Amino acid sequence: MGLTLTFLGHAGVLLSDGTHTIAVDPFLTGNPVATMQARDIKCQAIVLTHGHADHVGDTVAIAKANRATVYGVFEIAEFLGTQGVTAEAGNPGGKIAAPFGWVAFTQAFHSSSYEGRYMGMPCGAIVHVGGVTVYHLGDTGLFSDLKLLGEIYRPDIALIPAGDRFTMGPELAAMAAEFVRPKVAIPIHYGTWPLLAQDVSAFKPKGVEVKVMAPGERWAYA
Ligand code: NI
Ligand code: MN
Repeated sequence: MGLTLTFLGHAGVLLSDGTHTIAVDPFLTGNPVATMQARDIKCQAIVLTHGHADHVGDTVAIAKANRATVYGVFEIAEFLGTQGVTAEAGNPGGKIAAPFGWVAFTQAFHSSSYEGRYMGMPCGAIVHVGGVTVYHLGDTGLFSDLKLLGEIYRPDIALIPAGDRFTMGPELAAMAAEFVRPKVAIPIHYGTWPLLAQDVSAFKPKGVEVKVMAPGERWAYA
């Protein structure tokens, strides 16, 4: 057991236990900070937090090339089905059993559409793989139920958007980390474009270890 996390830049990560690899929000084509290309991604599953293009990204191409199953909310799964992709649908509040462990969706305060099409509720995604629980908060503003979600899921790692404007900025992201109380918090969704905060030096949650990752960086957790 154990987990290796690779940061793809923006909000994308690869999670691998050595047997299974899961891509979350794999946005590479058109991502100015990406170090990998879609064809470099080898995975068995993809998890999407919401339908925005900077999160769906290269999902269809990667899913087809790898015969990977995509986990998303009902509307995203239905749309991907029309694109010839195998998708598992869920929604906030439940767990979906997966060959690698499980996926659960949580609420996020945001929006969700793709090329003008309604894509259901925007979410955070909790992925359990290699005995490690990773909470990707998706794109969200701050909400106090993050504390409840932290108590329920007790994540080891939280990926927290900190780029401001479309999500929390670094200060509110730090409050989010204090609510969730993961062992390690990783700031994401910043520095990709000029509109987003360019540094997260103000992301300093009390009592939570922070790990700032560069795009392309790999980290072995436990
Ligand atoms: Ni978004
Ligand atoms: Mn986004």
